[in-house]
Amino acid sequence: MPQDEIGKKSNVPQFSRRAILKCIVLSAAVFLLIPVERLAQFLFPPKQTGSEAYPRTLVANSKDIPLNGSLLFQYPHKDRPAVLINLPDGGFVAYDGICTHLGCQVHYNKVAVSGWENNPQQVFSPCHGGVFEPSTGKVLDGPPPRPLPKIKLEIDDQGDIYANGYESGLPLYGEG
Ligand code: FES
Repeated sequence: MPQDEIGKKSNVPQFSRRAILKCIVLSAAVFLLIPVERLAQFLFPPKQTGSEAYPRTLVANSKDIPLNGSLLFQYPHKDRPAVLINLPDGGFVAYDGICTHLGCQVHYNKVAVSGWENNPQQVFSPCHGGVFEPSTGKVLDGPPPRPLPKIKLEIDDQGDIYANGYESGLPLYGEG
């Protein structure tokens, strides 16, 4: 080795045994403080499925809603209104309760409103006169650009009605 290179400091960083030991101890502490399950979820996040995003939720019992009646409830989370309808001819349907136009809350009218005297049973958005067909959720009148998202319902032997995801119409207004 040439004389002038002897005694020169190398560019490779030098770590003391103490620094390396500190690093190992700190790393071990981090791993011990983070629960293994959370660490696994962070490293391998679970794939979100429809059922996780839209949990199966008890809405009501069929006995609680008369024919041509409706019930407002929250789905898929407590800040989101939805409407359950017992259709005049029988059969339950449910929709997201937020209009697809500009986000007003919709409701089911079981009696005639002005302009719809001959066909009173519709889902209305009062803000700009949006009208939806109650058995399908499709737009009948007004500015809404698309149908109401239709909630998938399940009814068990006891008549309990569950919301379990959506049949159609996603994304939800304001959450897409
Ligand atoms: S928000 Fe429903 S018609 Fe405008």
